[in-house]
Amino acid sequence: MSSWLGKRLQDLRENSLYRQLRLVDSAQGPIVQLNDRSVVNFSSNDYLGLANASDLREVARAAVEKWGVGAGASRLVCGTQAPHATLEQNLAEWKQTEAALSFTSGYAAAGGVIPALLTKDDIAIADKLCHASLLDGVKLSGAILRVFPHNNIQALENHLAWARKAHQGARVLVLTESVFSMDGDVAPLKEIVELKDRFEAMLLLDEAHAVGVIGPHGRGLAAAEALDKRVEIQMGTMSKALGVSGGYICGSLELIEWLINRARSFIFSTAPPPAVAETAAASVRILQSKAGDERRERLGRNLNVMRQELAVTNEGAHRSAIFPWIIGDEQEALDAAASLLAKGFLVPAIRYPTVAKGKARLRITVTASHEETQISSLGEALRARSGGLRPPDS
Ligand SMILES: Cc1ncc(COP(=O)(O)O)c(C=O)c1O
Repeated sequence: MSSWLGKRLQDLRENSLYRQLRLVDSAQGPIVQLNDRSVVNFSSNDYLGLANASDLREVARAAVEKWGVGAGASRLVCGTQAPHATLEQNLAEWKQTEAALSFTSGYAAAGGVIPALLTKDDIAIADKLCHASLLDGVKLSGAILRVFPHNNIQALENHLAWARKAHQGARVLVLTESVFSMDGDVAPLKEIVELKDRFEAMLLLDEAHAVGVIGPHGRGLAAAEALDKRVEIQMGTMSKALGVSGGYICGSLELIEWLINRARSFIFSTAPPPAVAETAAASVRILQSKAGDERRERLGRNLNVMRQELAVTNEGAHRSAIFPWIIGDEQEALDAAASLLAKGFLVPAIRYPTVAKGKARLRITVTASHEETQISSLGEALRARSGGLRPPDS
C-alpha cells in the first residue's frame, strides 16, 4: 500500500494539488498566530466574528460545567438532552419553519437528509457548483443524478421536463446553494422555486454561506426573497456565520419526524456535545437580537470596503462575504497565496477538487471583525501583484 500511496502523493505534488495542514496557534479572529507570526486572516467563514465572541465563550463555559463534555450516545439511544431540544426550537423559530433537526455538521445533515428522501428510483438535479456534501448525499442515496450548468435555469427546466417524462412517479429533488461557497454568487432562487413548483419537485436549499449574512435577522436568501415558505428542505450549518459547529435541516414537522426515523447520519452517530448545542442555540438567539443586527451592519460596511478595493461594481451579483480572485493555474494560485502570506495576509489558494481543474483561485472572506484598514491593505497587496489576476466577475 505504501508504494501506491507514495506514488499518488507524488502525483499530487507534481500537479500542484498537494495539501497539507497549517498549524494555527490561536482562536479564530481577524488576526491569527501562524508559526509564531501574527497574520491577518481572510480565510475563515466566521463572517460575524462569533467564533471567539466573549458572550458565547461564557455560554460554552457554563454549559460545560452543567452538561459535561460528551453526549454519551446517539439521541435515540440515550435520550435528547435539553440543549439539543432548545437548539432545534430556536432554529425553527428563527427560520420560521414548523420544526428543525440538528446534526453533527452540515456535511452530516446533507448525508442524512438526501438518502432519507431519495432511493435509486428517484432523481436528483443539482447545480454543477453544489458543495461536495450535497453531491455525496446524492451518491449515498443511489438516486439518478443530473447536473445543470451553474445557475442555468433553462438547463434545469430541461432536466425537470426529462425527469417527469422519463421517470413517471419518481421523486424529484432539486439541489442548490443560496450563496455558492467558492464563488460567492447567489442562485436565481425565484426562478428555481417557480420551476420546481411547476414540475412538482422538491427543493433542498443549502444556505450554509447565506445565513447570518443575508436576509432579515440573517435568515438567509430564501427569507430575504420571501420564498422560504416554498422551500421544502432548508439546510444550513452553525459552523460558519454562527461561529460554532453542527448542521441543521429546517422544514415541516413531517419531514423532521421522518429524518429522526430515517436519516442515518442522525441515527447512527453520537449527538454533538450538549455544550456545543447550547452555544449554537445562544448564537441563533444572537442573530435575532440587536447585537446580531449590529454585527451584520459591521459586516455590510466591511463588504462595501472590499467591493471598492476589488472594483466590484455590481453589488447584486456579490451580496455575500466571499470574494473569489480567479487565477486559473494551480501553481500560480499557490504562489499568489504564498506571496500574500509573506506580506502578512492569510488567504487560501483553492484548487481541484474543491473547484474544477484550471479554475484555481484565492478565496477571500471578509468578516464583521476586520478593521477597514486591514481590508484596504489586502486590496493594495492584491493590486500590487495583480499581473494575470482578475477580480471576480461582477
Ligand atoms: C455550501 C456548504 N454546505 C455544507 C457545508 C458543510 O458544513 P459543515 O462545515 O458544517 O460540515 C459546507 C462547509 O464547507 C459548505 O460550504
